[in-house]
Amino acid sequence: MGQVNRKAPMRTPVRWLVTLAAMFALLAIPLLRLRGDSSAQQPSEEPPVRIPSNVAWTRETLALVSSGDPFRGLLLARRCNHCHGEEGFSAVPVFPNLAGADRLSFWKQMEDFRSGKRISPVMQVQAAGLSTRDSADLAAYYSMLPTARDPQDSRSFPQTMQDPSLATIAIRLILFGDGQRGIPPCQSCHGPVSYVNGAPLLAIQNESYLQDQLEHFANGYRSNDINVRMRSIARQLTAQEKTAVSEYYGAGLGPGVYSR
Ligand code: HEC
Ligand code: HEC
Repeated sequence: MGQVNRKAPMRTPVRWLVTLAAMFALLAIPLLRLRGDSSAQQPSEEPPVRIPSNVAWTRETLALVSSGDPFRGLLLARRCNHCHGEEGFSAVPVFPNLAGADRLSFWKQMEDFRSGKRISPVMQVQAAGLSTRDSADLAAYYSMLPTARDPQDSRSFPQTMQDPSLATIAIRLILFGDGQRGIPPCQSCHGPVSYVNGAPLLAIQNESYLQDQLEHFANGYRSNDINVRMRSIARQLTAQEKTAVSEYYGAGLGPGVYSR
């Protein structure tokens, strides 16, 4: 009995300590885990930053692209001809025409196919085997191909407008845009009024290819446009407007270099 009495006052603080330690552990472990977790999760909690393209228009890239050698480009283009046509006009309207191409745009697309920033199983394979210099040479070659009509080749361009009444809608967007929706005129970036770096020539492009690209920008399948320029425009166009501009340009009616 004496022993019990002596030990009882000691046992209580021990039990308290054990209880406190247990409570601390119960509280602290989840807290520590939370801290650990949150610091580990922080980067993935933010939306992943997707860079649209690895291409930046620096003095170096501009110099590289403008120094392309068209003769080397001519030799390299042999492997492109069966899809894009000997004269840079394809026989099938889903393949884009490349004659008279804007060099910067051409080169950027090749780089984007190579880096996977622009998805196309066909073109990614083509671009994989080319250096940045090769692409500059090809850009130089294609940019020099004449765009005037040639009855000798098998081009599918220009196509006839399925619905000529859409011309008014197309003309309005191309020449004036739509200020209310913040859509600048197409011709202010795609020419001939002015060009932004990397904007392709639309005036020689096939209807179904244009239609596909506008669709792909609108649904995000194509997302290699720097500053979301084309995605933000394409998302706002109605189905009828996309058809209208595609048919109008595809018929060779768009303002630009194409002479009928
Ligand atoms: C098997 C057919 C095929 C071959 C060969 C081919 N291309 Fe293409 N090319 C395509 C298709 C299809 C597209 C459209 C891709 C898409 O859907 O976005 C395209 C797109 C392009 C574009 C983008 C045009 C634009 O206006 O944005 C360029 C530039 C291009 N090709 C260059 C080349 C070059 C240079 C070669 C040769 C080294 C080549 N292609 C070989 C089928 C081909
Ligand atoms: C603010 C400038 C700007 C305006 C305005 C603009 N675009 Fe574009 N567009 C671009 C750029 C830049 C690209 C190239 C994107 C890239 O880097 O791949 C492009 C690409 C395109 C393409 C892809 C063509 C190809 O060869 O692959 C189509 C189609 C297109 N634009 C249609 C239009 C139409 C139609 C309009 C008017 C309703 C328009 N754009 C207005 C800047 C513009």
